[in-house]
Amino acid sequence: ASHRPLVGRHVLVTAGPTWEAIDPVRYIANRSSGKQGFAIAAAVAALGARVTLVAGPVALKTPAGVRRVDVESARDMAEAVRRALPADVAVMVAAVADWRPKEYRGEKIKKRGDAPPALMLTENPDILTNVAGGTRRPALVIGFAAETDNVLENAKAKRKRKSADWIVANDVSGDVMGGDRNRVTIVSGDGIEVLDEMPKSAVAMALAERIAAVFRVEAAE
Ligand code: C5P
Repeated sequence: ASHRPLVGRHVLVTAGPTWEAIDPVRYIANRSSGKQGFAIAAAVAALGARVTLVAGPVALKTPAGVRRVDVESARDMAEAVRRALPADVAVMVAAVADWRPKEYRGEKIKKRGDAPPALMLTENPDILTNVAGGTRRPALVIGFAAETDNVLENAKAKRKRKSADWIVANDVSGDVMGGDRNRVTIVSGDGIEVLDEMPKSAVAMALAERIAAVFRVEAAE
């Protein structure tokens, strides 16, 4: 069992972008390949966890032994996450769109000679905040923070603001987006751990080992 330390644990992972429809042919979204989230789902499954992977629109294969729920919008993702609870761990890797168009147009918006249409936006639910503050809060809630500047300060503030246990901060000012490597810093209540740049699969394994360590300690108590 020691090499499968997450047996009996349910881990919920969100990954990929969300698409917020403007009309039948257009949407707004964040840039996200889903690779890091899928790698984390694969890594915790390899350590024995039962895994629910709530995935936005991505072109990736489902990792072995993972239950995948495909969604499109942030509101769909919030609902799928709600249905997937309870869980022992939530790892919220998805690049959820902060806003969606206030109104969905059932017909394609036509190009006319006049001024381009103005998009009115409205705020999406913050899935991480709701999970971390909810009644069925997983024992361990992990958020991600993709930042281009002030990475550490923003991650620390985000950890508090969203009531997450850990924030995994990554500097996306370089070419991390869509790539196979990542450089992350784990911000927890115990302090800060800077990991070297490594493949996303190795970042996932490192994180999975740290998650398993939390439950090892718990089991020993
Ligand atoms: O505030 P920001 O979008 O930078 O926060 C990133 C973290 O919050 C990620 O873990 C992301 O999955 C989560 N998030 C969420 N729902 C949102 C926005 C962000 O779960 N609407």
